[in-house]
Amino acid sequence: MKRKKSRHYLLPFLGILGFICLALFLFSDNSVFSTEKNIINNKETTQSAYPGVDIVTEITDEKLYSMAIHYPEFKETFLNEQIQQYVSWSKAEFLKQIDQNRKHLREAQASLYILFDIYPIDKDMYSIVFDMESYVGGANGQQNSKVFLVDVKNNSFLQQIEIIIDSEQNRDKLYHLLLHEFKYSEKYKEYLFQDFLEEWVKDKNNHFSNMFLTEDAIVFKFDKYQVTAGAAGSPEISLPFEKVRELITDDWQKKLYPNKQDHGIREPGEATGPNEQLDSDKDIEESILPKKKRVALTFDDGPHNTNTLKILELLDKYNAKATFFMLGNRVDFYPNIAKEIVARGHEPGNHTWSHKDLTTLSKEDINLEIERTNKAIQKATGKEPTVYRPPYGSINNQVREAVNMPPILWTVDTEDWKSRDANKVLKEVQKAVKDDSIILMHDIHNSTVEAVELVLKFLAKEGYECVTVSELNAN
Ligand code: NI
Repeated sequence: MKRKKSRHYLLPFLGILGFICLALFLFSDNSVFSTEKNIINNKETTQSAYPGVDIVTEITDEKLYSMAIHYPEFKETFLNEQIQQYVSWSKAEFLKQIDQNRKHLREAQASLYILFDIYPIDKDMYSIVFDMESYVGGANGQQNSKVFLVDVKNNSFLQQIEIIIDSEQNRDKLYHLLLHEFKYSEKYKEYLFQDFLEEWVKDKNNHFSNMFLTEDAIVFKFDKYQVTAGAAGSPEISLPFEKVRELITDDWQKKLYPNKQDHGIREPGEATGPNEQLDSDKDIEESILPKKKRVALTFDDGPHNTNTLKILELLDKYNAKATFFMLGNRVDFYPNIAKEIVARGHEPGNHTWSHKDLTTLSKEDINLEIERTNKAIQKATGKEPTVYRPPYGSINNQVREAVNMPPILWTVDTEDWKSRDANKVLKEVQKAVKDDSIILMHDIHNSTVEAVELVLKFLAKEGYECVTVSELNAN
């Protein structure tokens, strides 16, 4: 936000509105949720990049809670029923908890996010990996995940335990493979509870329902707290097929390995393989081709529970990377959105905790605004920002000295917050953009979502590559 306009004329109106809300709350009974359960404010179905798979997005924004739910839809009813059952169950649990916690929900809106990833296994099989995160008051949100292995051709789900040869010896091997990956992971090594992991793997009732397949690995997705401390989030441990080959049934080896032949299990003498070839090709390319024009898209004041996700989809579609200068208190509300930003390869930036003009604060208060935000972003995303943007672009020497990160301003101001008009935003970009521009937008406005699509289309046509601020500054 750049503007500093007083909004005092709104106060009487807000007071009356608040009174009405309070009255409604006091006179309503507990049954209010049963009538609201099926309200979905906005439902959209879009095509995914995978044939035969659509993506359904349901957005619900109520006074006490918001839900942003994404799930895949196939052509086969049976597959859809199972997946929708999981989604409905998650929603019902969430609403039940709101009902139980409504007294504590005065301060912060409750939220439910269901996101998913698709990993093709082969032409007709996909791993669908859901991530559910809910917040219903209190200090911590809840997180869990759910895996579906979908066989589209046979209209069925695969069971993980059918893929692995289940024996005591194999479980022991699997335990050591997972232990090794945890121990060598910078991200998780300090948080592992080794005895939890061992117990989990060796429990005969464990059918590895959190296991999914990608084109070249099997992956275990653990829930928060399952085998690690909370700070590790929900770890994903990937074991390449070569390492787990002997644990996999013959049938599945045949299914999974044909695709692997080109990448080859190399003979010892053949060490100079395709990889080195690739490297030298790349060198040649880099020396001959002219340097590509680059811009950094930056988004301030988020994360926003729906618009940020829509912008992330667009960025993926155009293979663009961006920097999100997030407000600490918004990250606190929407940690899962912040997490998604980083998970998709974008850069997290610090836009202070509460959007105060830093030049009006003491050194201590400046530090508080910055540090608290860095911590919140680190906690939500696993990555600490290395850049910040002072609110209103307002900066002086005291701010520069207090903050131990480079301040990032902008060179193209789209004024999206002022015009709220996608075409005007595009015009501002067309007028001012050049190589190495830093473009300012805000991912909190609906109109900016529309604008992002126009801007990305324009930049792609003009041959610009969209990179993060830190990538832009590295050269
Ligand atoms: Ni701002």
